[in-house]
Amino acid sequence: PTIHIITPTYSRPVQKAELTRLANTFLHVPNLHWILVEDSQRRTSLVTRFLRETGLNYTHLNVETPKNYKARGNPRGTMQRNLALRWLRETFNANSSQAGIVYFADDDNAYSLELFEEMRSTQKVSVWPVAFAGGLRYESPKVNAAGKVYGWEVVFDPHRPFAIDMAGFAINLRVILFKPQAYFKLRGVKGGYQESSLLQGLVTLNDLEPKAANCTKILVWHIRTERPYLENEGKKGFSDPNMEV
Ligand code: UGA
Ligand code: MN
Repeated sequence: PTIHIITPTYSRPVQKAELTRLANTFLHVPNLHWILVEDSQRRTSLVTRFLRETGLNYTHLNVETPKNYKARGNPRGTMQRNLALRWLRETFNANSSQAGIVYFADDDNAYSLELFEEMRSTQKVSVWPVAFAGGLRYESPKVNAAGKVYGWEVVFDPHRPFAIDMAGFAINLRVILFKPQAYFKLRGVKGGYQESSLLQGLVTLNDLEPKAANCTKILVWHIRTERPYLENEGKKGFSDPNMEV
């Protein structure tokens, strides 16, 4: 199957560094299609050039999150992920034999190459632990001796329907195509409920397939990049604004 990777991204000093790191990972993954969705009014020339030069198989989309929506502290990347889901449904037919896996990869995390091999065999939705999520070294699905997911090894709100970070699951494309109404909810989503708002429309707990050796291995790290210190920008004619960073 093709792995369709959905990544929301937005303009900031470290954007190109994050995307470079991500592309360097993806270049090692066979049969990958990157759907990069810019949170911007237009597709920027930085990202357009960047994608062209990677040699990856990609689709470049954009949708701007309204300022007032961001200001209210809503979850990030939601409209961008929803646009990518719509693109998949418009591009692939539910009855076609196009085998695919869908994974939401934020631009700042770190991904093991093994993760992509694990998700390739996803029948409905596969799950695994995520390091540095929820204020812990790692959060994980709880897996019983029979290899079934029966709950969540988390501190923050374990009663969420799917107490899992965005980086902790992959979905078979067929499931996305057969449930065309399932999207991330934009309104009334409490913190930590974004993932559940999509997954509830797609599967039940019983459908989940644990990967990463029954959730005993860490293959993805929820990393957050520090903002660089740029306090000397604008002083003494520094620096050249025409330099792309
Ligand atoms: C956590 C989760 O891991 C995210 O998947 C979830 O979207 C987010 O919380 C949330 O619910 O807000 P966190 O590290 O806090 O992640 O979020 P970011 O990495 O800052 O943003 C998630 C993605 O959205 C990134 O790919 C980022 O580039 C993108 N983003 C962020 C935008 O497209 N626009 C923004 O204004 C901010
Ligand atoms: Mn992040």
